[in-house]
Amino acid sequence: MDGMPLIMRNRVGATSCLGPARLADTGWDFRDARPHPLGNLHPYPARFIPEIPRRLIAELRPADGLAVLDPFCGSGTTLTEAQATGLRSIGIDLNPIAVLMSRVKTSPIPVGIGKALSEAIQRAESEANPQVPDIPRLDHWFRKDIQLAVASLASAVAVAPAEAKDLLRLALSSIIVRVSNQDSDTRYAAVEKSVTRSDVFRLFLRSAQRILDALKGRPYPLAESTVLEGDILALRPGAIGQEKVGLVVTSPPYPNAYEYWLYHKYRMWWLGFDPLAVKAGEIGARAHFFGGNGHTAEAFRGQMTTLMTLLDAVLIPGGHACFVVGRSRIHGQIVDNGSLISEVASRFGFAEAFRTERVIAATRKSFNLSHANIKTETVLVLRKTP
Ligand SMILES: C[S@@+](CC[C@H](N)C(=O)[O-])C[C@H]1O[C@@H](n2cnc3c(N)ncnc32)[C@H](O)[C@@H]1O
Repeated sequence: MDGMPLIMRNRVGATSCLGPARLADTGWDFRDARPHPLGNLHPYPARFIPEIPRRLIAELRPADGLAVLDPFCGSGTTLTEAQATGLRSIGIDLNPIAVLMSRVKTSPIPVGIGKALSEAIQRAESEANPQVPDIPRLDHWFRKDIQLAVASLASAVAVAPAEAKDLLRLALSSIIVRVSNQDSDTRYAAVEKSVTRSDVFRLFLRSAQRILDALKGRPYPLAESTVLEGDILALRPGAIGQEKVGLVVTSPPYPNAYEYWLYHKYRMWWLGFDPLAVKAGEIGARAHFFGGNGHTAEAFRGQMTTLMTLLDAVLIPGGHACFVVGRSRIHGQIVDNGSLISEVASRFGFAEAFRTERVIAATRKSFNLSHANIKTETVLVLRKTP
């Protein structure tokens, strides 16, 4: 059926479509979705529920030898879903915490990880005089004794064997908000917590063990996955090598929705990354909308044009590019980002093959989205002219 000229409507009132017929039979809200074993390793905002990429990959599966690409891979959901079905995958993200998550989730369990973990904890616990990095407003967000414990772990992780480093960094990153004064991942208020120095080491150990257990539970051979850190708007097609891409599955950032850099700001500071550089490159960051610096729906259109230039260069003719994207409220106006992307892509010879609206689970909506009263997001499947 794939590619046949069909006009159809799905159960949840999808718009008409031309193409992959079985996508229209899917209930895209996935109300019965269960927590995924790899979903609990580390917090990440606005991630896919795995059922979405799983369904898209199952119906639009590229031929053997072709890769699945997610140019905004975030926590790596598309990559792990591709890997679970034996497909090669490529992920790109600007945010180093996203890259860390994606790499750990798609990599083999590091050789010697148990030894590296206990050595890191021993080294950190016995560190008499750890160097606390120069991080803005550190005293507001971290008690002094906690600063010293986190600093000793950060320096122990920094000298861990290369193959163990990513997993240990991810474990450290995952406990940063918990041991800070920040109320929660989504509430930026300083509160008093009863965390002790020894809790920091205990939580780190527990987090590393939880990550290891989840990785051990992957019931599939690990198809190759490449994760690149960088600004997709500055990436040249050659950066993904000679790889041919058969399918793109992604959820792009969009104006005035989430701020990934802010969510992970202190995690990045502690791991030695620069959150302000990430902020500067982040598409759609809400901060860009203050101060009249000219970010508009037109800026997003320009960014999506640059993205489509890349996708057009790497995707095979007849390949599909799938986007899951919400609406934005910009200066009081609602912008339909799905239509905007579809319109941009049409200029590169991509035709709409399928489109539907899915309900965003209330727990996944950001503060901004709930204020804009935006309750659905668009699943958009485009097909490159064969
Ligand atoms: C909606 S999230 C993707 C979530 C992902 N689907 C998942 O399941 O975790 C969008 C991602 O785009 C990334 N991003 C924002 N601006 C970027 C840029 N200029 N280049 C590359 N990635 C960017 C953000 O860091 C964020 O991880």
